[in-house]
Amino acid sequence: MASLRYSFVTLSIVTLLVISSCGNAQLSPTFYASTCPNVQLIVRNAVREAINQELRIGASILRLFFHDCFVNGCDGSLLLDDTNTFTGEKNAFPNRNSVRGFELIDTIKARVDAACNATVSCADILALAAKDGVGLMGGPTWTVPLGRRDARTASQSAANAQIPAPSANLATLISMFAAKGLSARDMVALSGAHTFGFAQCSTFRTRIYNETNIDPVFAANRRGTCPPSGDGTNLVALDIQTPNRFDNNYYTNLLNRRGLLHSDQELFNNGSQDALVRVYGSDLATFRSDFAAAMIRMGNISPLTGTNGEIRRNCRVVN
Ligand code: HEM
Ligand SMILES: *[C@@H]1O[C@H](CO)[C@@H](O)[C@H](O)[C@H]1NC(C)=O
Ligand SMILES: *[C@@H]1O[C@H](CO)[C@@H](O)[C@H](O)[C@H]1NC(C)=O
Ligand SMILES: *[C@@H]1O[C@H](CO)[C@@H](O)[C@H](O)[C@H]1NC(C)=O
Repeated sequence: MASLRYSFVTLSIVTLLVISSCGNAQLSPTFYASTCPNVQLIVRNAVREAINQELRIGASILRLFFHDCFVNGCDGSLLLDDTNTFTGEKNAFPNRNSVRGFELIDTIKARVDAACNATVSCADILALAAKDGVGLMGGPTWTVPLGRRDARTASQSAANAQIPAPSANLATLISMFAAKGLSARDMVALSGAHTFGFAQCSTFRTRIYNETNIDPVFAANRRGTCPPSGDGTNLVALDIQTPNRFDNNYYTNLLNRRGLLHSDQELFNNGSQDALVRVYGSDLATFRSDFAAAMIRMGNISPLTGTNGEIRRNCRVVN
């Protein structure tokens, strides 16, 4: 009897420890309900204004969130500027001269702090802005769990090692997402983010000149804006059909061997994810709901909560 009770108590403690060590259990959609009730509206209005200035910005902010979350969790580490004494993530190979949208995050932070000073983290602002960047461009929306705090550190080496490259094959993509607790299905759904936004020539040059699992008409068209040598900074749309709309044409492109990046076409190349690509290509509703669910899971990667980290005053600088 005593040993039975003892093992019950032990089990309860173990259960509690498991729940509390799983950081995302502490995030909550109502985290700022009393401390900053208008935060969602402030973020959304700022993202809407920015999109009216530049259609690409929603895509850019979504990518910022992905590159933040994949490096030690969604903790705003990517937003920190390099200084003489601090090496951040902005100059890591996947980010340098590529990720963009930091000025919009600064604008939103200033407006949010004007309404509720020193209350909302940069990491949460990024999570909300990424959601609005998708929703305002025609994509799905979702309720963002909140309460992330901002990192006091960053890791350029982790950014180099843990963000997938466009040369990655399917097995590598699946394992790099698995390393973040995301399934192959999450990976395929999240890659649907390449339904909007742009890529530089250097990221798809080898594919359009040298690969065979590509529609030849599409390849020839893309070679027109991406010469075989040179600096490779010319931009082309990731989704040739509807570059400024968050829809499921990314997947119909893959079905037609019109994936722009090598990593895109890997999802539909006679492999384990072909069937799912067909589903997403023909069933918009399933793609939308899987994308939203996967975004919540990605947003839950290792957040700083409670008294860990800080609420940064300036998203670019540790307090
Ligand atoms: C699966 C592995 C992925 C790889 C290898 C990859 C790679 C890339 C590359 C090379 C670019 C072009 C960057 C440039 O030329 O400057 C790009 C753009 C983009 N990526 Fe990904 N990506 C992946 C997954 C994701 C995920 C999960 C998201 C978000 C959920 C995402 C969102 C975007 C967006 C929105 C753009 C366009 C950004 C803009 O126009 O500013 N990507 N990606
Ligand atoms: C905002 O909060 C910071 C940090 O607590 C404080 O230093 C600053 O004076 C506050 N600004 C305003 C306008 O209240
Ligand atoms: C295509 O492959 C050839 C032969 O391997 C190589 O010399 C060339 O640099 C490649 N071109 C591009 C754009 O990758
Ligand atoms: C798959 O395999 C078939 C038959 O070998 C081939 O014709 C096709 O180009 C391959 N790639 C894709 C993307 O289906």
